[in-house]
Amino acid sequence: MNLLIMGLPGAGKGTQAAKIVEQFHVAHISTGDMFRAAMANQTEMGVLAKSYIDKGELVPDEVTNGIVKERLSQDDIKETGFLLDGYPRTIEQAHALDKTLAELDIELEGVINIEVDPDSLLERLSGRIIHRVTGATFHKVFNPPVDYKEEDYYQREDDKPETVKRRLDVNIAQGEPIIAHYRAKGLVHDIEGNQDINDVFTDIEKVLTNLK
Ligand code: AP5
Ligand code: MG
Repeated sequence: MNLLIMGLPGAGKGTQAAKIVEQFHVAHISTGDMFRAAMANQTEMGVLAKSYIDKGELVPDEVTNGIVKERLSQDDIKETGFLLDGYPRTIEQAHALDKTLAELDIELEGVINIEVDPDSLLERLSGRIIHRVTGATFHKVFNPPVDYKEEDYYQREDDKPETVKRRLDVNIAQGEPIIAHYRAKGLVHDIEGNQDINDVFTDIEKVLTNLK
């Protein structure tokens, strides 16, 4: 299956992506994760990305389109399918993705759109913790790890309240035309995101089982 997962920062894209990958074995392609890996390795792209991400702004389209195209061109994608998480995030990226997929002769099959009340997102992001070794995402209150030890977890730099506010504004402004673009193609499946993590996944699972 070739899929997108969309939703505002904190909607649960990464959380649900991990469950989708476990169940359906598609390749998870998260532009945010790719940028954070490049930042950790202090590559040229990582240094550039950091200057935008730390302010809650989007990384320029030409950089983001380039890394996605490179990843989608790799051999495993045609075998496993993919789940793009956090891309496209501008209408220009959506058009670039259409072009890339046409060039690679790959068809997009569905867009999972997680809808959440924006007022709940600050609480989700400020409580998010990530395991240092596995990279798995948890929440101090909503999804606490078993045997929690503070030193084993970190918080994302861009989860500070000032940065979160800017991320939400940027994503709310950019998001609607992208969803409209995919609605016009009949690809969008709206998912109620204001429910327990496992209930969100049950709804996604129903959609994907019907797509297969
Ligand atoms: P990115 O990493 O994609 O961040 P984001 O879109 O802001 O989304 P998040 O990863 O913060 O949230 P999520 O929806 O994955 O939520 P999660 O599952 O973790 O991008 C980061 C930055 O990189 C961007 O700001 C931008 O600068 C740059 N970038 C990335 N892609 C780009 C692009 N295409 N173009 C340009 N720039 C780009 O869940 C959040 C928390 O809530 C967790 O603690 C989780 O446990 C909890 N939670 C999840 N679901 C539930 C639930 N149902 N109930 C209660 N709690 C829940
Ligand atoms: Mg994420």
